[in-house]
Amino acid sequence: MNNNGASATGSYYIHTFGCQMNVHDSEYLAGILETLGYQAAACEEEADIIFLNTCSVREKADQKLFTKLGRVRLMKRANPNLIVGVSGCIAQREGERLFDRAPHTDIVLGTRAISRLPVLLEELRQKRDSGGGGVSFLELTDDLPGSAVFVRGSKAVAYVTIMEGCDNFCSYCIVPLVRGREISRPAESILEEVRQLAEKGYVEVQLLGQNVNSYRDENAGFDFAALLDEVARVGGISRLRFITSHPKDFDESIAAVMARHDNICSAIHLPPQSGSDRILKAMSRKYTRKEYLNKVEVLKDYLKNVSISGDFICGFPGESEEDFKLSLDLAGEVGFSQLFTFIYSPRPGTKAESLDDDVSRGVKVDRLQHLQELQLRIQRKKHERLVGTIEPVLIEGESARGGGQLCGRTEGNLVVNLTAPRELIGKIVSVEIGEAGGYSLGGRIAGSP
Ligand code: SAH
Ligand code: SF4
Ligand code: F3S
Repeated sequence: MNNNGASATGSYYIHTFGCQMNVHDSEYLAGILETLGYQAAACEEEADIIFLNTCSVREKADQKLFTKLGRVRLMKRANPNLIVGVSGCIAQREGERLFDRAPHTDIVLGTRAISRLPVLLEELRQKRDSGGGGVSFLELTDDLPGSAVFVRGSKAVAYVTIMEGCDNFCSYCIVPLVRGREISRPAESILEEVRQLAEKGYVEVQLLGQNVNSYRDENAGFDFAALLDEVARVGGISRLRFITSHPKDFDESIAAVMARHDNICSAIHLPPQSGSDRILKAMSRKYTRKEYLNKVEVLKDYLKNVSISGDFICGFPGESEEDFKLSLDLAGEVGFSQLFTFIYSPRPGTKAESLDDDVSRGVKVDRLQHLQELQLRIQRKKHERLVGTIEPVLIEGESARGGGQLCGRTEGNLVVNLTAPRELIGKIVSVEIGEAGGYSLGGRIAGSP
């Protein structure tokens, strides 16, 4: 299916790295490519256009791109008409330098430039006709993938962008530098998209933003709590989630809305990053350990069995043994349902990059393992308590375990593996929990033999 020009149609393949925002951006990229006549390729070797939608949050993410680009270079040697695009957070950070670092790159597409893809493909075609060279668009526009066409990866769970960008500038984080300043999407446009998703039969909607609770629609007079309240009132959506919440912007009004609606999952991602006030200050997180714990109390008061997940960074510059112990204590006190734990990684252009890092690699790794072990014990206990209960589970697809098993999620976002007919994919079913592992649960359809 090779073709001789960028505007001719063919097939596409997108590799996605990073967070849900990037997964959703890939759905948008795919939507644009399909509108232009491209079809999804069965595998990357068959594709006429390959996009690498990149993440830059830690150094490891960077390495992944350059390994991948090395493989793509070989494919381009075999097929010189192949179009290679790099989008996402590394594209935004590196910009046209990518053409030097990886000369087989044809398109560099910034994080807020996806809507410009058709114009870039046309430019590329003209350039190829007149001798070659890559094309790029890196301006951080105010475009939000509002009324866009998406090729959604799931028939049951849909992502909906409510805001983009970040103004928080946590000292370690590259996201504000590559995703630009915060902009919120008009509430009416979000509500319209959710109504359409309900009509199409989607069961779950996840509201996305780098910091959802700083959402604001001045014209409609909506803050995040008001938006969440309205979205929950759109009929037909059984489950509503939102990611990510910044603890400094989380308040009681959000907990109250969560408690008011049965279809808002009793689950929240509220990353503490550290349990030490000294380190939280150095991270510019703008809350204290006590304030974080008070917010957790509020959540637990409103929602009895709320699942709280979080992120921690281990080995931030200057983190002492005492500071780290405070992170361990915090994790123990909150009892997270799930934790994402990371070793601090210096990122170009951030405030923390210039800090003297006095925590050795060995100590960082030890701390990470220590925290992970504690968390695993907590999870195991929480999971064991669920054995024998009946949980509503949204069946999402095949289990990573294989063996014909399916997997789904509880309202608290816990993974459940079970044997069930494939027709149940996309449905919420009652599952009797029979097994508790460290990372997932096992069960069977309630009432089945
Ligand atoms: N907007 C979200 C998260 C964005 S990045 C929030 O504020 O929570 C996802 C997670 O990656 C962060 O929560 C943090 O734990 C981790 N992270 C970000 N920058 C990092 C860095 N430089 N080193 C290690 N982990 C990092
Ligand atoms: Fe990064 Fe902090 Fe913004 Fe999250 S809130 S994206 S960690 S700067
Ligand atoms: Fe990565 Fe960008 Fe998301 S840096 S975590 S893909 S916002």
